[in-house]
Amino acid sequence: MTTRPIRIAPSILSADFSRLGEEVRALDAAGADYFHVDIMDGHFVPNISFGPMVMQSIRKLTTKVFDVHLMIAPVDPYIAAFAKAGADSITVHAEAGPHLQRSLQAIKAEGKRAGVAINPATPLSAVEHILDDIDLLLVMSINPGFGGQTFIPHAMEKIRQANALIGSRPIDLEVDGGVSADNAGALAAAGINIFVAGTAILGGNDVSTYATRIVAIRTAASTVTA
Ligand code: DX5
Ligand code: ZN
Repeated sequence: MTTRPIRIAPSILSADFSRLGEEVRALDAAGADYFHVDIMDGHFVPNISFGPMVMQSIRKLTTKVFDVHLMIAPVDPYIAAFAKAGADSITVHAEAGPHLQRSLQAIKAEGKRAGVAINPATPLSAVEHILDDIDLLLVMSINPGFGGQTFIPHAMEKIRQANALIGSRPIDLEVDGGVSADNAGALAAAGINIFVAGTAILGGNDVSTYATRIVAIRTAASTVTA
């Protein structure tokens, strides 16, 4: 269990894009802490989502944190655009290029919180030497590209190891992929404090269900004693 504050971050990748503004307002009212914004380029991952213009258009609908997950390579040419579009934190993938520390410096130069994501097959050692450059570590529990995938069990052990690696450093530990109220307790016990959830919150796109679902994940994450 971590002492870092629990944050529930709905992924707007699972929104009904024909009603995107309404979805953002509903999630805000339903108690979302962060908005997790998935940016996909059809190259680093086998899907395309949307870009900074769309993000900028929803930025004005809420004052909550925009947690931007860039699944794009090369990523450096786009960092400034997402910073200007209203990102609060920008997370890049360790696998997206040869100069990860340079990307992190570029995020910091924009005055944003810097995160690194690692795919399921990427060892934790990929981030061992840049821990002093990050505010957030995102452990992917699916192969990125699509919502609605099943949580990869090995991610749980990797998260435990990531938590130990972080130690007392002021780094948030985030999980993304297949997260629900069913595994949030175990994830919190392993050290997670930021819970990204797409399908588990937005599945069915019925705004009347969002608050209950956010509470369910928060409760599961908060009541764990392990
Ligand atoms: C996938 C994205 C995730 C996705 C999670 O590449 O990074 O944020 O939206 O969706 P669920 O919660 O449905 O697995
Ligand atoms: Zn994501």
